[in-house]
Amino acid sequence: MEIKGQQVSEKSFDVLIVGGGGSGLRAALEISKSGLEVAVISKVFPTRSHTVAAQGGITCAIASADPDDDWRWHMFDTIKGSDYIGDQDAIEYMCSEGPEAVFELEHMGLPFSRFENGRIYQRPFGGQSKEFGEGGQAARTCAAADRTGHALLHTLYQANLKAGTKFLNEWFAVDLIEDSEGAIGGISCFDMETGEISIVRSSAVVLATGGAGQVYEQNTTSLICTGDGLGMVLRNGLPLQDMEMWQFHPTGLYGNGSLMTEGCRGEGGYLINSEGERFMPNYAPKAKDLASRDVVSRCIVQELIAGRGCGEKKDHVLLKIDHLGEEAIKSKLPEIREISMTFAGVDPIKDPIPVVPTCHYMMGGIPTNVNGQVLTTDVKGKDQIVQGLYSIGEAANVSVHGANRLGGNSLLDLVVFGRAAGRHIKQDIKSGHRSELSKGNIEKSIDVLRRLDSSKSGESVFDLKSDMQKTMQDYFGVYRNEKLMSQGIEKLKEIEERTKSLHLRDKSNQFNSERVEALEYINMLGIAKATAYAAYERKESRGAHAREDFPERDDEKWLSHSLYFLKDNSVAKRAVNFSPKTIDAFKPKARVY
Ligand code: FUM
Repeated sequence: MEIKGQQVSEKSFDVLIVGGGGSGLRAALEISKSGLEVAVISKVFPTRSHTVAAQGGITCAIASADPDDDWRWHMFDTIKGSDYIGDQDAIEYMCSEGPEAVFELEHMGLPFSRFENGRIYQRPFGGQSKEFGEGGQAARTCAAADRTGHALLHTLYQANLKAGTKFLNEWFAVDLIEDSEGAIGGISCFDMETGEISIVRSSAVVLATGGAGQVYEQNTTSLICTGDGLGMVLRNGLPLQDMEMWQFHPTGLYGNGSLMTEGCRGEGGYLINSEGERFMPNYAPKAKDLASRDVVSRCIVQELIAGRGCGEKKDHVLLKIDHLGEEAIKSKLPEIREISMTFAGVDPIKDPIPVVPTCHYMMGGIPTNVNGQVLTTDVKGKDQIVQGLYSIGEAANVSVHGANRLGGNSLLDLVVFGRAAGRHIKQDIKSGHRSELSKGNIEKSIDVLRRLDSSKSGESVFDLKSDMQKTMQDYFGVYRNEKLMSQGIEKLKEIEERTKSLHLRDKSNQFNSERVEALEYINMLGIAKATAYAAYERKESRGAHAREDFPERDDEKWLSHSLYFLKDNSVAKRAVNFSPKTIDAFKPKARVY
């Protein structure tokens, strides 16, 4: 078809999954096996998706390390970790369905590490407990050495090849397209190899586009983590939920940002300051270095503020694992050793690793129910399902992580909710049905491409992007306050104004990385704004959102989700679910580790 002089090709599938990481591949597998025609569109080859970088493991009460372990203890830990704004129906679903989802992966061939008795190896991770917090540290994170995400992603990719899933690799998804009834009926996209623009029609579109860690200057994420699905949702007038909640992982490699897995501390490593002191017991006497991530990150920043940081600039601390011994490091943490030697010139068998809190995970995202169906609100603020649109994985906010995610719960979220969405879709849609997409809506969905291609002069995407990343880093980091954030919002407004004259210098079609970066940047700017306005509005400290001017949690006013709308930068509240199906709700209490 021709749209305003532009050739646009058409494709159609029963289901289109945008994103080839763990959640997208798990959903695709479920649907492919049912006989529906499913395609995965991914801007990178699927096994290069960011899931590949997950190191420490997948947390789940499979009772390998402790035969008495119970998914309800995992549920309690997750709710406490979320600082009580995780939805309890969704957390119950994830923790109770988890063991089956993990054993499925084992049976697909995921090469888990093993205990002597042959069962899947599990290591302790932060915020894990037995007996609802009363029975000491649990060991609940199932691991394939320190390459669990790598193993998981390759396992799922191979299973999808076997099941006949179709792949559009190195295609970039641009925007959602509504059908005549207001349901989502497809997307616009282009082939990065040739520049060919396409419209893909499908009865269900699943946004499995991952997180957006690139919004911050220092992060542990791949360059591809630009939250493209979130940008699409915002432009479609739909809200994002809890975007003020960003996780700073306590141990990003200093100067480089690579993840140094929490598994290092799970295996017995600990943090020291410039005085060689193990400082975490001063802050979290029970859990010590295995307190939850928001807590440990704040403690590190406190050490730096107190002048006990290491190095010339006194701006990082050290992660000591040498006492674990060469054999344990080589067998359980081989990747950590390699990354540390390659990027920091430190062999952790001999010396401690320099680390600093680094942006790692987006707790917020596209609001969904447990089936992955995307939600918005009606005029009265009641939840409404967006027909035809699903979201899963880090892109989604179902919400199981609330204000702070526990380590290893991300991989579990991917497979449990990828499978749940797949199950719902295969029951919900009819094979071969395609809705009508109007020419006007198709035109709207490629408008941004046409605008970029007609730009003659103006701002460079690289300058705009780095200014935005720096603003987020400096004004919306681990500690926040009103003055700082209002300055940050002003800076974002200036950047947004400059973005109106974004200029694409390279108009070529073959692997035009500038075009891709420009589209990614536009997506990220919306996400940065969502974070800024939601963080400004939430006048309390909860989980990863630490405000110096409101240091306490305020359950009376803020035991709720935030919903951000791009149209007017408004932030509304949405109720947290306190209605699990099989167990009494866990009531909010003081969160100590
Ligand atoms: O520390 C880690 O291995 C990270 C795990 C996670 O974010 O779940």
